[in-house]
Amino acid sequence: MSETARIILDGNEYELPVITGSEGEKAIDISKLRGMTGYITLDSGFKNTGSTKSAITFLDGEKGILRYRGYPIEQLAEKASFLEVAYLLIYAELPNKTQLDWFTDSITMHTLVHEDMRRFFEAFPTDSHPMGILSSMISSLSTFYPESQNPNRPFADIEMTIHRLIAKLPTLAAQAYKNNNGHPIMYPKNDLSYTENFLHMMFGLPSSNYEVDPVISDALNKLLILHADHEQNCSASTVRIVGSSQANLYSSISAGIAALWGPLHGGANQAVIEMLETIKNDGGDLQKWVDKAKDKTDSFRLMGFGHRVYKNFDPRAKIIKKAADDVLDKLGMDDPLIDIAKQLETVALQDEYFVKRGLYPNVDFYSGIIYRALGIPTDMFTVMFAIGRLPGWIAQWKEMMENGDPIGRPRQIYTGANNRDYVPVNERK
Ligand code: SDX
Repeated sequence: MSETARIILDGNEYELPVITGSEGEKAIDISKLRGMTGYITLDSGFKNTGSTKSAITFLDGEKGILRYRGYPIEQLAEKASFLEVAYLLIYAELPNKTQLDWFTDSITMHTLVHEDMRRFFEAFPTDSHPMGILSSMISSLSTFYPESQNPNRPFADIEMTIHRLIAKLPTLAAQAYKNNNGHPIMYPKNDLSYTENFLHMMFGLPSSNYEVDPVISDALNKLLILHADHEQNCSASTVRIVGSSQANLYSSISAGIAALWGPLHGGANQAVIEMLETIKNDGGDLQKWVDKAKDKTDSFRLMGFGHRVYKNFDPRAKIIKKAADDVLDKLGMDDPLIDIAKQLETVALQDEYFVKRGLYPNVDFYSGIIYRALGIPTDMFTVMFAIGRLPGWIAQWKEMMENGDPIGRPRQIYTGANNRDYVPVNERK
């Protein structure tokens, strides 16, 4: 017997179906609520509302569980390559050797971008934020591949778009960095791995033979995996809703990049470093800043703290915190900001305000420390998040298209003026 929920409205009782997910999560299916009752539900920020069923990522906020297609993030971060994880998210299974070679070769063969895009880079102000460049560049790819604008194109063409995106995003990201620094761009090298190639395009110079440090390449691989998907977060939901109008995949991903840029979302990794530097330059009085974060009259928030879903700990933050220590140790580097970050975490987690609200370090709290150690400039941190999150966005978009989800169009409760007649301007007060 299927489970139901009963509600009583205006003296009438209604039954709504309850659905249960593969991990025991339960939802009341309200898809027929308005037709049955005339009522809608209201849930600002969708804190209690599921937008879809999905088989891609499972996370349990209370237990700090995160799995991609059933595989624990801890195992994937330790043992897999980023392209393996990208394949897993997009095609739902870990690739065998033949599949991984095919996927890797396809990505490798599409890392170049059209030379005409060089003119776009030159048109941006030299101090442009790379996220603004990247969202523009990714959307403009739809004009270089106009066939991608056809919502009814065969899957083989869609697959080519998917591979082009994964191949070209690092190239465009590195070109944005080089252009902003007035450096000559470095073209991709097909004999390098995905992360090695990105580091080569970022830090290589025509005049020198840049050797990728395996410590840095391995750390980057782990970071990209940890950022690869996170179910219906703000940017993934943005990609889904833009894609639900049958806008092309390049434009949907561009919208996801724009959403990720926000400091409450992926932009937090840049904001964390800026916050730690402010605290350091202010004399390092941690309690002062924790108190500011608690003060409702103060707009300051502890960046990198808190999460919509994780209310005990973000499993990614635990892995990244350890990786930050390892990377700094292996590179023989010392970053005063990591000490401030750890002390800040300790002070905050002894404070009832944070503990009561389930505010713990999230994925962004320590990631900037590693990016700094890898030589990535602060305004490129969210770009790194986007490179990692791209396969997740693609997987979410692909699942939405394959499920035939309808165009996203929420309802509202109107609270404005009631009906009134037009008054000519010379008769208005
Ligand atoms: C990411 O969704 C995802 O999965 C996102 C992400 C992903 O992988 O895609 O995990 C990546 O975006 C991580 C989050 C990065 N953002 C930050 O670190 C910015 C700082 N944190 C927040 O602004 C906040 O915690 C959010 C945005 C992350 C979550 O906000 P919610 O779920 O809407 O919670 P809320 O704003 O309603 O806060 C609940 C309470 C409030 O206080 P009260 O009204 O109960 O008194 O907690 C307080 C908030 O004021 N609060 C904070 C705080 N975060 C929440 N107070 C101080 N500092 C903070 N960081």
